[in-house]
Amino acid sequence: PAPGWSVEADVVIVGSGIAGLSTALRYVERDPTGRVVLVTKDVLSTGSTRWAQGGIAAVIDPSDAPVAHMVDTVIAGRELCAPEAVRTLVTEGPDALHWLIDRGTSFDRTTAGELALTREGGHRARRIAHAGGDATGAEIQRALSDAVKAEPRVELIEHAFVPDLLLDTGAEGTVRGVTVHVMGEGERDGVGAVHAGAVVLATGGIGQVFASTTNPEVSTGDGVALGLRAGASARDLEFVQFHPTVLWLGADARGQQPLISEAVRGEGAFLVDAEGRRFMRDRHELTDLAPRDVVAQGIAEAMAATGTDHVFLDARHFGARMWEERFPTILASCRKHGIDPVTDLIPVAPAAHYASGGLTTDLGGATDVPGLYAVGEVACTGVHGANRLASNSLLESVVFAHRVADRLAGRAKPVPVSASSPAVEDVPDADPPSGLVSPTVVPRIRAAMSRHVGVVRDAAGLERALRELDALAGDPANAGAEPGTPAWEAANLLTVARTLTVAALHRARRLPARRSPVAHTGPTNVAVRIGGNAMSVDRSRG
Ligand code: SIN
Repeated sequence: PAPGWSVEADVVIVGSGIAGLSTALRYVERDPTGRVVLVTKDVLSTGSTRWAQGGIAAVIDPSDAPVAHMVDTVIAGRELCAPEAVRTLVTEGPDALHWLIDRGTSFDRTTAGELALTREGGHRARRIAHAGGDATGAEIQRALSDAVKAEPRVELIEHAFVPDLLLDTGAEGTVRGVTVHVMGEGERDGVGAVHAGAVVLATGGIGQVFASTTNPEVSTGDGVALGLRAGASARDLEFVQFHPTVLWLGADARGQQPLISEAVRGEGAFLVDAEGRRFMRDRHELTDLAPRDVVAQGIAEAMAATGTDHVFLDARHFGARMWEERFPTILASCRKHGIDPVTDLIPVAPAAHYASGGLTTDLGGATDVPGLYAVGEVACTGVHGANRLASNSLLESVVFAHRVADRLAGRAKPVPVSASSPAVEDVPDADPPSGLVSPTVVPRIRAAMSRHVGVVRDAAGLERALRELDALAGDPANAGAEPGTPAWEAANLLTVARTLTVAALHRARRLPARRSPVAHTGPTNVAVRIGGNAMSVDRSRG
């Protein structure tokens, strides 16, 4: 349908987690007359950020150094990180952390008033700042949401789904804004358009393509799918990070599952298998604090060896007081499910947690489509390589949000579409999977992905997953769904699932001996793009 309303802004930001909010706030800080529209498909605080527990990594302690943070990041990333991106992250990280403090985030402090720092997997130093014990993301989301609500030059549109970008077909497909479907009651209801000098995607992750994930319901890969449909390339999509310690609630548990932060292991908890064996001891010099992919794979092998579908985390030695003071959120969530970590072992298993890949961007957030930018989990600067280092994600979001905003400030102005200008058109729907898809396919997408594209993968399983996904995409019974958030999300999930599986298959074929999605070293990364109606693997971009 034709837009019923339209609005102009310098920048339209899609997504309201730490990446989107930091971009908006920094933009108006840097451009004294700048105007931003920020759209979010649910309410302001519904994204992944508020679920982040462990913290945000940055070099704060005088005995630590950016180069040490860089080394840990690159080792965790299996040496597939883009070095310049990592250098940028670790050197600009401390300023980003202080910016969050200036913007009202209250981090935990020692009795001497210094920032309290913890460790997580893969870090060889204490460099993780946290808030509320284990509620870091919730505190950051609160502070940034409050700041955005108080900023008159940021217009917030909630319950607003963005199915399409506005492409100026006469200007090499430059992105000039977004179409928005608002499902609410307010000034901007129904179908509208935001015309802007730049579009920044900050839509977060893709965890909902799997049956079991730490990500909230809204993490359906919308930004990756939107970017791919507009011709942007993505890289490293096959590098899905599975968090090792997610509360195991039974074999049938589906959707968002409770996270048991790695900071619990950072403070001394350890893993045991069903026979009580500390299986991480002989796997890595950092034992239970090895990088996440190593621990997830260790758990997968321990489960296979003992014929179980979970292992256990032992933190009984913390005692009640430490649990209550340091990890109140996790304590409450375990108790809600009938487990008391003060006296019980905590059953855990890996679940999809983080997309180390995403839309390919440079260090200023630009995708390869003019006018389109991406920041945070939806983007891939290459900073995470094959496996993100713990607590680098919140940091990445702020560092690169600032870079996008600084680049655009004063320069991003909406381009008026005059009668003589080429028409600005919606992106035409490509063939499946980017056409509308029936939401009834979603459980089948998730089942295929979790069965074949999980912690342990091989080429045969990936081929099977691709066949199942292709069958879903090609079945006319799954097309022609009623337009609306469930159908748009289903289309995006299918797009992301297929693209990710193609990338994983491509890597598996080149590395037939390796089983883990993240245990690869050697070849350059794979970039994928959807070209017209067919998906093609673009090897030139690695
Ligand atoms: C955690 O607290 O274990 C998750 C932190 C992260 O994903 O970096």
